[in-house]
Amino acid sequence: MLIDGEPRRTIWVAGDGWRVEIIDQTRLPHEFAIVALETLEDAARAIEIMQVRGAPLIGATAAYGICLALRADASDTALEAACARLLRTRPTAVNLRWAVEDMRGRLAPLPPEQRPAAAYTRAAAICEEDVAICRAIGDHGLELIRAIAARKPPGEPVRVLTHCNAGWLATIDWGTATAPIYRAQQEGIPVHVWVDETRPRNQGAALTAFELLHQGVPHTVIVDNVGGHLMQHGMVDLCIVGTDRTTRRGDVANKIGTYLKALAAHDNGVPFYVALPSTTIDWTLADGVREIPIEERDPREVTEIAGMTAEGRVATVRLTPEGSPAANYAFDVTPARYVTGLITERGVCPASEEGLAALFPERAAA
Ligand code: MRU
Repeated sequence: MLIDGEPRRTIWVAGDGWRVEIIDQTRLPHEFAIVALETLEDAARAIEIMQVRGAPLIGATAAYGICLALRADASDTALEAACARLLRTRPTAVNLRWAVEDMRGRLAPLPPEQRPAAAYTRAAAICEEDVAICRAIGDHGLELIRAIAARKPPGEPVRVLTHCNAGWLATIDWGTATAPIYRAQQEGIPVHVWVDETRPRNQGAALTAFELLHQGVPHTVIVDNVGGHLMQHGMVDLCIVGTDRTTRRGDVANKIGTYLKALAAHDNGVPFYVALPSTTIDWTLADGVREIPIEERDPREVTEIAGMTAEGRVATVRLTPEGSPAANYAFDVTPARYVTGLITERGVCPASEEGLAALFPERAAA
């Protein structure tokens, strides 16, 4: 996707062939900065402090973190230590575990001297696979948007509400929730996106708005409490969100506040879709509310906010009285019964065990 008209991805290997470069998402939208990761610890920290974030990109960064670790030490002990360090970074997005287990499973049987090169090859393949998967999600989601557009007067935009950033910045390219939107734009179908700001980290206001702006997609940023009002007044045609972990029964963990949007959509008859690569499905879990680990982050993300001053300086200010405690639950779970459908790389299915098993029979049987 584009930044200032230039095609970009979120993670790549530098010209020297080994360092891993990322866009520092903590500095968007005010500053575009590229950061080079040189060590396992650089990669783990980038995930923890959310220089990279979003389930698929967390997985890809973990894969490259293993590459960087093996460059320094390709022994069995180092491989195990690298996997353990990366798995501790963030608990909710299951793509992290998927990528670490994929890398470990392929690298452990190799002699240590072959591991670094094999790791870089596999990490690059994980990224390419993610791009292809997101593009396929876009194609399947496009048909949903096309069907809604066909019922509207010609030229009237399909109005999509999204939460958090499940855009290309959360993946390698295309995004999950945004891929159908970008495909609709390519097909000349008019779309307008309601962008939830997504407190406390403002991934909607800072990141989704940034990427839609650079892609030329009409959008409006709204505070998190507005969606229900818009839906009551017929101003949302469909919701599309991403997910960090989806159980085999179709319960969906996503950024905090997603559940409330699903409830509002249910009450107002607005279709509520979740876009996901199959790497986000946790086949080991059934009941998302009880079983998905929910990350709790630093309360300062709630009590403080950062933004650009009139003088062009990025500053952090406190919002709450000094001494008021705050809680910072980063994700919530939307039960499958509130999800109209799951948009995957293999098509759209009901959010249910049968629906997922029909699309991914080999995984459901495993
Ligand atoms: O805390 P974040 O920014 O990593 O949370 C990201 C989300 O919740 C996304 O919606 C999710 O990872 C899907 S990304 C395609």
